[in-house]
Amino acid sequence: MNRKDDHLKFALDSVSNKNGFDDYMLEYISIPLFGLNEIDISTKIRTVEFEYPFFINAITGGSEKGDKINKDLEYVSEKTGIFLFPGSYSPFLNKEKIDYPKNKGVNLGIDKPVSSHLEAISKTNAKFLQVHVNLIQEIVMPEGDRNFETWESNLKDILSLVKIPVILKETGFGMGKATFIKAKELGVKILDISGKGGTDFSKIENMRRYKAKRYYEEIGYYTTESLEIAKEFKDDFEIIASGGIRNPLDIVKALSLGAKAVGISGAFLRILETEGKEALVNTINTWKEDIKNMMLLTGSRNIEELRGKIRKNR
Ligand code: FNR
Repeated sequence: MNRKDDHLKFALDSVSNKNGFDDYMLEYISIPLFGLNEIDISTKIRTVEFEYPFFINAITGGSEKGDKINKDLEYVSEKTGIFLFPGSYSPFLNKEKIDYPKNKGVNLGIDKPVSSHLEAISKTNAKFLQVHVNLIQEIVMPEGDRNFETWESNLKDILSLVKIPVILKETGFGMGKATFIKAKELGVKILDISGKGGTDFSKIENMRRYKAKRYYEEIGYYTTESLEIAKEFKDDFEIIASGGIRNPLDIVKALSLGAKAVGISGAFLRILETEGKEALVNTINTWKEDIKNMMLLTGSRNIEELRGKIRKNR
């Protein structure tokens, strides 16, 4: 079985049972100040408008099973109007025929040179580039990368040559203060802090190992921790939150903590795998309504007004 299929197989069993969003509660106003039809849940990353503040975040591609998932996710994205960031483009590099969604996002690792990123963008006509970082995964993965010297210079080249908005994206390990400082110094403007609390690639790689190295599972930041750290950098970055988002309540909490948009991988993959694509369409449509309802409960007409209407309760 190939590595991408292993990831799909183990992803749903890797989900953390600790999730930082449970430590927070939304503020609530008993007397609403306006009606549901006045609530606007749209958002914007750079100049790109999102009708809804959540999206399908990178999940695999490049195997028969992965390509089928991408086709289904493309269908779901078209049907619901929520944005799609497909998984890594790397299996399609240097190929003539590619089976990768067009006009959405495109995703590629920081280990790849800028020429590969430019190829991926031009072949997919993407609106955003997600440059993913997965250092802990590489370290735990038996066949993982051991040459990290090029990562920073690749990112510098990408930032200077890529014309579409570039998102520096974690892969479920979160970002701490040192990462924010480095990213700022390099000129990154958009971060997907993708933290702990959901799919856990250190666990997934441990499931693939003959001898697990469980201690690596204790390194990283919960999504909520990264969102708290990000507040200090609110003038430097547009923040996307992902990692452990289970439901519309987590989305609203992440927005309230300062995210401009929220990405979901594992929870959507689970619905797709267990109930199918129509069930995922229905779930997403329900979530849109629930987000609006929760905005009413917090007395927020738009995402801007939702900011800060949250408290730590533990
Ligand atoms: C991922 N993720 C991921 N991220 C990325 O940037 N490129 C990729 O190719 C993949 N591949 C991938 C495969 C599978 C099967 C899963 C479940 C996830 C990571 C993903 O985008 C996200 O950062 C983490 O999964 C944390 O979010 P969730 O799953 O807790 O919502």
